[in-house]
Amino acid sequence: MKIAGSVALVTGANRGLGQIYARELVSRGAAKVYGAARDPGAVGEPGVVPVRLDITDPAQVAEVAGQCADVSLLVNNAGVMKASTFIGAPNLDAARVEMETNYFGTLSMCRAFAPVLAANGGGALINMLSVTSFYTNPLDASYGASKAAAWSLTNGVRIELAHQGTLVVAVHASFIDTDMASLADVAKDTPESVAQQVFDAVEAGQIEVLADERSRFVKASLPRDHELIYPPVQEFWDAAIKGSA
Ligand SMILES: NC(=O)c1ccc[n+]([C@@H]2O[C@H](COP(=O)([O-])OP(=O)(O)OC[C@H]3O[C@@H](n4cnc5c(N)ncnc54)[C@H](OP(=O)(O)O)[C@@H]3O)[C@@H](O)[C@H]2O)c1
Repeated sequence: MKIAGSVALVTGANRGLGQIYARELVSRGAAKVYGAARDPGAVGEPGVVPVRLDITDPAQVAEVAGQCADVSLLVNNAGVMKASTFIGAPNLDAARVEMETNYFGTLSMCRAFAPVLAANGGGALINMLSVTSFYTNPLDASYGASKAAAWSLTNGVRIELAHQGTLVVAVHASFIDTDMASLADVAKDTPESVAQQVFDAVEAGQIEVLADERSRFVKASLPRDHELIYPPVQEFWDAAIKGSA
């Protein structure tokens, strides 16, 4: 699919990766880019049309699908990460917000926009997932569960929408330099690099983007995950527990 001339909608376009997705779409010649955000007043990217949208609010999702009926490229970028463990978290609040946003919110957007994409020739649907869709890191365990659920939904939606010619792209990334990863003192990819890889993939008709070395390693290691992925994660966790004791 060509980005030039397409009509795109990006969720969570007010900051972080979503803002850069919107910028990249404008620079690649999209005819219109809707920047959806809980606070549309915070969408300041030049050339982007602000739209009010909380993806966890079904009435808003339905309203936006009606209002933006010309969309041919949907970027489900909005997400939350509460750095919550499974056992140590005080309650299920963080896990529920993550699942409500990253899984149910994304699912709700896919359902609302499937007929819109069909009416506009099939188009493309991009779901922003994570390397933690593939494995569990105890530091952001419930976030990983929500991204694993969103990976599953992406694979299912691709099958359900194949008949209408919609390209469904799964994007997996490790750390990206945005607010979400601000507390992690590690090497991070730039949001620009991720956005460029994603829209290159859309133009090339590819269904998966593994945006960095860590994501490529983890995906390739899944058949031997308990040998290659989990032992260092356990070591890291044990050291973190010792350090905080
Ligand atoms: N940063 C990373 O290391 C990393 C790595 C892999 C994947 N990702 C994924 O990349 C995507 C973008 O994250 P980011 O790094 O740009 O994080 P970020 O800087 O925290 O931005 C998150 C965006 O999502 C929006 N959002 C959250 N809940 C929403 C809701 N219910 N409805 C509408 N918008 C909502 C936020 O809006 P408000 O301003 O209103 O809060 C904000 O625009 C997320 O799906 C994230 O899980 C991030």
